[in-house]
Amino acid sequence: MARTYKIQVLPGDGIGIETVAEAVKVLKVAEEETRGLNLTFHEFSCGGKHFLETGEEWSAEAKAFSQNEADAILLGAVGWEREPGEPIRRSDGQIAGADVVLGTRSELDLYANVRPVKLYSGVPTPLADLVPSDVDFVIVRENTEGLYVPIRGTLKRGRDAESGVDVRVITRRGAGRVSRFAFKLAKKRKHGAPTDGQKRVTCVDKSNVLDGCRLFRKVFREVANDFPRIDTDFAYVDAWTMWCLRRPSYYDVVVTSNMFGDIISDLGAAIQGGMGVAAGANIGDGHAMFEPIHGSAPRHAGKQRANPIAAILAGKMLLEWLGDKHKDRRCHRAAEKIEFAVKAVLSAGLTRTYDLCVGPFAKVEPSTTGMVGSAITELIRAQ
Ligand code: IPM
Ligand code: MG
Repeated sequence: MARTYKIQVLPGDGIGIETVAEAVKVLKVAEEETRGLNLTFHEFSCGGKHFLETGEEWSAEAKAFSQNEADAILLGAVGWEREPGEPIRRSDGQIAGADVVLGTRSELDLYANVRPVKLYSGVPTPLADLVPSDVDFVIVRENTEGLYVPIRGTLKRGRDAESGVDVRVITRRGAGRVSRFAFKLAKKRKHGAPTDGQKRVTCVDKSNVLDGCRLFRKVFREVANDFPRIDTDFAYVDAWTMWCLRRPSYYDVVVTSNMFGDIISDLGAAIQGGMGVAAGANIGDGHAMFEPIHGSAPRHAGKQRANPIAAILAGKMLLEWLGDKHKDRRCHRAAEKIEFAVKAVLSAGLTRTYDLCVGPFAKVEPSTTGMVGSAITELIRAQ
């Protein structure tokens, strides 16, 4: 009997609303075109605007659904502003909507934030001489501890000696499970690093200075012993940014702590053509949440300008995860259809949002968010 997967849809704020609408449109068509696949969509309002209107970031019902009902969660972006540069904040100073993204990551224990960096044909990259076959690696960002643990505060508020303190916690358990996740991912990936076909996991840290990073690296080494066929590699985070720009083809899987992962995954996004195409997955042992890496971009909101491809690829990752978890080939088939259609639309070059109308595509008339989604659904139907 085919089971039905419940997808919780949390569009959130700003362009999240437009891009997630296209992702849902694409998922629905992929479902229709895949025999035996049943998805139901359960949408809830959340984020900064919702907080302004209701005083809460999301309803108790929405939160309970994420914890008890959803087979997978698709999140757009959270964060809204009163006026440019003035984000709506909770009383503790965090942006309104943080509970949806950061709260869910920690409460559902989604400890691996998986951010693929893959250059598709037809996507302009800012790095000269780079071709799509050079860039295909994945950043695995530890997602539940590091500088994101809520141990922080302000001392001597308002005085000259005022200080802000954020404590970074790295544990053996946290470093161990994310390292193991990275090695298992490297084992599963088919091609290894583009440069030499070698399966490789690179540990990115700052262990020349920080104790937490020394623990992270030590535990990484212990885990590596269980994966003798996989090449292990080490880099300090500052040097890694340089090496990655010089030779992205050397990287296969990169594992790092929370804050470093946040920063280097934006670098990865830029290399693969920008935030408009960068998707991510927050994965735990039981739950998972998928999101485009882009924010809510209030400036662009409601204009049908934003690129929906990141959200659509997040939908593809959602299906892959469901397929792995439930050993369900149908989910994988639907994911393949989506990626095939995305690749075809990108390489054809004609239907693209403004962010990709650069370089050799500077003369292309920008399409709307909806037009890109529709071009992708048409190609899924035509397969
Ligand atoms: C990301 C974002 C979030 C983070 C923000 C919105 C809290 O930058 O997903 O990379 O810092 O993790
Ligand atoms: Mg970020």
